[in-house]
Amino acid sequence: MNVMIVGAGGGIGRALLELYARMPGIQRIYATHHRPVSSCASTVHWIQVDLGDPDSVAALAQQVDQPINRWICCSGILAGAHGQPEKTLRQLAAAKLQHDYQVNAVGPLSAFSVLAPRLRDTDMRAAFLSAQVGSIEDNRLGGWYGYRMSKAALNMGIKCLAIECSRWRSLPTIVAVHPGTTTTNLSRAFTKTRKEPVQSAAACAAQLFELVESLVPEQSGRFLRLNGQSLPW
Ligand SMILES: NC(=O)c1ccc[n+]([C@@H]2O[C@H](COP(=O)([O-])OP(=O)(O)OC[C@H]3O[C@@H](n4cnc5c(N)ncnc54)[C@H](OP(=O)(O)O)[C@@H]3O)[C@@H](O)[C@H]2O)c1
Repeated sequence: MNVMIVGAGGGIGRALLELYARMPGIQRIYATHHRPVSSCASTVHWIQVDLGDPDSVAALAQQVDQPINRWICCSGILAGAHGQPEKTLRQLAAAKLQHDYQVNAVGPLSAFSVLAPRLRDTDMRAAFLSAQVGSIEDNRLGGWYGYRMSKAALNMGIKCLAIECSRWRSLPTIVAVHPGTTTTNLSRAFTKTRKEPVQSAAACAAQLFELVESLVPEQSGRFLRLNGQSLPW
């Protein structure tokens, strides 16, 4: 079995990579990183990708030469060079919204599209890490415009993918997943004052691994929590 983990240099992605690297029967793991990473098992083939750069995403096609049976996209941004999550309309900046949209929605969907010929093997399962705050129906607090809008766009892309790919001869299972609040670089600054316990990246990855390995085609097109419960889109 071959696995692709996009964003394998991040908190959840790296912990998941280590679980797949130990799984019996794994032949190749394609792992994308953005900033430099230290290596892992010999089955891991690292590929540098900038999801903010369409040319970098397009180049993926030349670097993946095996059929992929598991696609797990663990990339994403909440804050960065373009600024912090917006608390009010006054903080909206077009450049940040566009960058969030490119990295969180356009990049992951384009990467899947570029590799679609490699994603048609039997029992292909794809999970894209989204976020509950990307649910339009569930939005009660507002704010975080760029992150919420880009994750809502990602969610729509995943739903479209699941519908289109259900017409493939070998039926894939494609889902959006909310990983739950997890201590990583992405969340650290926003969870310091949180009273409820926050899960570690290793605990999150263990549940994500179980979820992906138990997915069935009937779940395709859903937005799931790690325990398999559905969230509203
Ligand atoms: N942590 C949470 O509480 C939480 C909650 C809900 C949803 N999520 C979602 O879970 C996913 C994983 O997040 P995480 O918590 O593991 O965060 P993380 O540790 O910051 O990992 C995010 C990954 O995305 C990569 N990335 C960022 N910009 C990129 C770019 N332009 N091109 C390619 N890769 C890029 C990062 O690479 P570099 O670091 O090298 O830039 C990193 O590997 C994200 O989709 C996030 O939205 C997380």
